[in-house]
Amino acid sequence: MKTAIRYFTGTGNTKRIAGRIGDVLSAAGDTLDIAAIPGAPPVTDAGRCVFCSPVYALGLPRIVRRYLAGLPKPGTPRPAMLVVSAGNPDHTGWALRHGRELLDARGYCVIVSETIHMPDNWTPFLPAPAEDVAARRLAAGDESAAQLARDFLAGKERHRPFSLAAMTPAGSWLAHHGFHGLGINHMWSLFRATRECTSCGLCARICPVAAIEMVEGKPRWSKACEQCCRCFNLCPARAIEQLDLVGRGSTRGRYCEPNFKP
Ligand SMILES: Cc1cc2nc3c(=O)[nH]c(=O)nc-3n(C[C@H](O)[C@H](O)[C@H](O)COP(=O)(O)O)c2cc1C
Ligand code: SF4
Ligand code: SF4
Repeated sequence: MKTAIRYFTGTGNTKRIAGRIGDVLSAAGDTLDIAAIPGAPPVTDAGRCVFCSPVYALGLPRIVRRYLAGLPKPGTPRPAMLVVSAGNPDHTGWALRHGRELLDARGYCVIVSETIHMPDNWTPFLPAPAEDVAARRLAAGDESAAQLARDFLAGKERHRPFSLAAMTPAGSWLAHHGFHGLGINHMWSLFRATRECTSCGLCARICPVAAIEMVEGKPRWSKACEQCCRCFNLCPARAIEQLDLVGRGSTRGRYCEPNFKP
């Protein structure tokens, strides 16, 4: 059977999950059509689909919501699996619920909707995971992804229930709507290149949505930014900072999936 796998990634965790799922499906005889969002060809003739996304502020990234909402409707309901990669598996909030709703509306039959715990990459605001912690989490994530793929192949329904776990409902609601309603349209303006910037231009070349333009040798961010944190985490000079609410630049660490080559 032909399986389409679509994923969005900032720093490689979700691409890794998509790859592990693909390994299991292809070992079972599937032909894979695997591609990154944005730029992925439309899903037309696949027998089943896998969608993988990071969690952003207790929801799905804007770019993933748009992609799912624009999927062409299949003639008959198409089996699908939705997997989100999360820095904290208890802080996935509305991500799976919204993804399932969008896929249902496009004529997909979601058999598996689950979370995989991966290293946190929101490093402008949260500490980067230590190397050994990240390595253990990635290894466990590989196993979880493979198990989900086996369940999907077996047609075994698996859905993680909606839960805000340790966060209060009011705090979660504010974080989610603050980011997706307001933050996403403004947070691009909080990125800065520091004096350490070498004008190499890598950040502009690797941005998945071409939100960075080099102006007089320095990066300039634009509102197309999805806040994936790829530029921040991969700048070789660690010369990118993102100002917090009181205007302080981040001094935290960086994270990237070790094999990720954007
Ligand atoms: C802007 C932003 C917001 C995030 N919000 C959450 C969150 O609400 N809950 C969570 O568990 N992880 C959150 N994360 C962490 C990522 O979802 C997680 O590290 C993911 O594995 C990153 O995947 P990637 O490497 O494919 O980009 C956030 C990351 C970013 C960049
Ligand atoms: S990747 Fe870093 S050093 Fe290179 S241009 Fe961008 S900010 Fe400057
Ligand atoms: S500008 Fe940076 S954070 Fe924004 S989408 Fe591009 S790489 Fe991601």
